[in-house]
Amino acid sequence: MTQKDFLPINGTDYVEFYVGNAKQAAHFYKTAFGFQSLAYAGPETGVRDRASYVLQQNKIRLVLTTPLHPEGEIASHIQRHGDGVKTLALWVDDAASAWKETTDRGARSFMEPTTLKDQHGEIRTAGIHTYGDTIHMFVERKNYNGPFMPGYESWESHYNPTDTGLLHIDHCVGNVGWGEMDQWCNFYSEVMGFEQLVSFDDKDISTEYSALMSKVMANGNERIKFPINEPAEGKKKSQIEEYLDFYHGPGVQHIAIATHDIVHTVTSLRDRGVEFLHVPNTYYDDILDRVGPIEEDITPLRELGILIDRDEEGYLLQIFTKPVEDRPTLFYEIIQRKGARSFGKGNFKALFEAIEREQARRGNL
Ligand code: FE2
Repeated sequence: MTQKDFLPINGTDYVEFYVGNAKQAAHFYKTAFGFQSLAYAGPETGVRDRASYVLQQNKIRLVLTTPLHPEGEIASHIQRHGDGVKTLALWVDDAASAWKETTDRGARSFMEPTTLKDQHGEIRTAGIHTYGDTIHMFVERKNYNGPFMPGYESWESHYNPTDTGLLHIDHCVGNVGWGEMDQWCNFYSEVMGFEQLVSFDDKDISTEYSALMSKVMANGNERIKFPINEPAEGKKKSQIEEYLDFYHGPGVQHIAIATHDIVHTVTSLRDRGVEFLHVPNTYYDDILDRVGPIEEDITPLRELGILIDRDEEGYLLQIFTKPVEDRPTLFYEIIQRKGARSFGKGNFKALFEAIEREQARRGNL
């Protein structure tokens, strides 16, 4: 790239969820996904209106926040959307510059640059709005060595389940409304300086019944990848439309997490109660003809329902959970990349048919 990147990003800093009961959600992410207790903020630390639990696994940090009273933005977010992602926070070296460069290009400010201090140093942070009620926070933490952020204390717990090999966030997908995909891809290119990696239209992503369109936007170093989906017309209701109906607007559809050993990770997640989508066993009958030789033994992949796809650069292994709340909204993808930089296009049909079977069981197809 010849042009200077006006928004250099080191990676994902954290993902914050607004949830109805953060104490119990934290227990779920520890028990089922193997996250570790990291930090806590709430009445005991001088925060009066909310409680927040910070969990960590390798490079992934989740913040689970619940309101303590019915008034205010957090409670109304939960009433409208159910449990869901509020913040995709980006780790930067200069939060004030990130805010200025993006708001100068048309981003709507969520929070002006602010410095937070405690005995561990200072964090500079700022935020902008993106699709729906979702926001991006910019987090500059080079002058901070505390557990998470000022206002948070270390969270020591007697309950420390082993991790499941989840390493870092590979991509976070947003669902937006009918005809809004290009507008939000333009936002990521013009306001954030991202570039489009790939696009899929309804011919790529349609089954007999439903369809969607998708474009993948990425920052310069590709550590941040945000696919954006919109529904497309089909014989029946698009899975994206089902999401929009239950989230009541655009929001984060899935978070893809990387592992170095997907068989170990998925075995462990399944043993702890995480539920995955299943493709028919016939998927595996001709899979090696389609993707060519792979290093893994096919038997455990078939047994666990792990999908395989190949592109020009290599292959990938992936699997998707069922939604992790009662509304059919947020779910997770577990992905192991063996050279491939793509998103599993060859699996879309089998995957979407599996999603449609779940939609039909919910009466939403
Ligand atoms: Fe994905």
